[in-house]
Amino acid sequence: MKRRPIIAGNWKMNLNLKEAINLAETIVKGSLDIEDRDIIIFPPFTYLYPMNHVINSSGIFLGAQNMYWEITGAFTGEISGIMLKDVGCTHVILGHSERRTIFHESDEEIANKIKTAIEIGLYPILCVGENLEQRKIGKTFEIITHQLNSSLKYMLDSKHMPPSFIIAYEPIWAIGTGHTATPDQAQEVHIFIRNWIKKEFGDKIANSVRILYGGSVKPENIKELMAEEDIDGVLVGGASLKADSFLKIIRF
Ligand code: PGA
Repeated sequence: MKRRPIIAGNWKMNLNLKEAINLAETIVKGSLDIEDRDIIIFPPFTYLYPMNHVINSSGIFLGAQNMYWEITGAFTGEISGIMLKDVGCTHVILGHSERRTIFHESDEEIANKIKTAIEIGLYPILCVGENLEQRKIGKTFEIITHQLNSSLKYMLDSKHMPPSFIIAYEPIWAIGTGHTATPDQAQEVHIFIRNWIKKEFGDKIANSVRILYGGSVKPENIKELMAEEDIDGVLVGGASLKADSFLKIIRF
């Protein structure tokens, strides 16, 4: 079964407003004829509202890089999923390794965020991935299993995973390092994740959930990654900040 590819650009904490608008405008213009894949951009929070106007009716989706799990209230400095929807977001990245390592986000927090995002109708992209040390000592699958079990705790409790769910496998050692996982290394983990979904939620869900690869994706390696059976798309950091490289990735 061929799943609809997703090309997602995580801008992280980069660009000023003018650069962000230019980038989005160029991506919109350069992808007008693309209909067979989903394109999602994830600008910093403060650019979401203006970006919604730039991508307006282009078919490109807008997403945020994080959110809080409560809907409203006294949570100074946080942004709720409802607020994200209000400015045009359809997607949200949750559990990115930078959130987990730099900001010490726990699996429990990520589980709460995933639960709320789904309840309010945002599509979360759950990120999982091992670090170099864990890979070296052969713990990759153990780590991934632990992250899936704990971040998807509420789905496991209710025995329901939405068929539209998206997971991103992002090996930490490949993020921003220029060292992409080989297509074989990525495929091996992707099939492992799909088998885990199969075991917990059944074949039908496992076949429809899209699993993205992230970590030093560039125009030079996109084609071989996308040729793998279980790689349904990519989450791109650095190479999504330049229109020409992101458009090349979109058009792999
Ligand atoms: P990178 O980042 O493409 O710069 O490695 C990927 C990510 O963190 O999503």
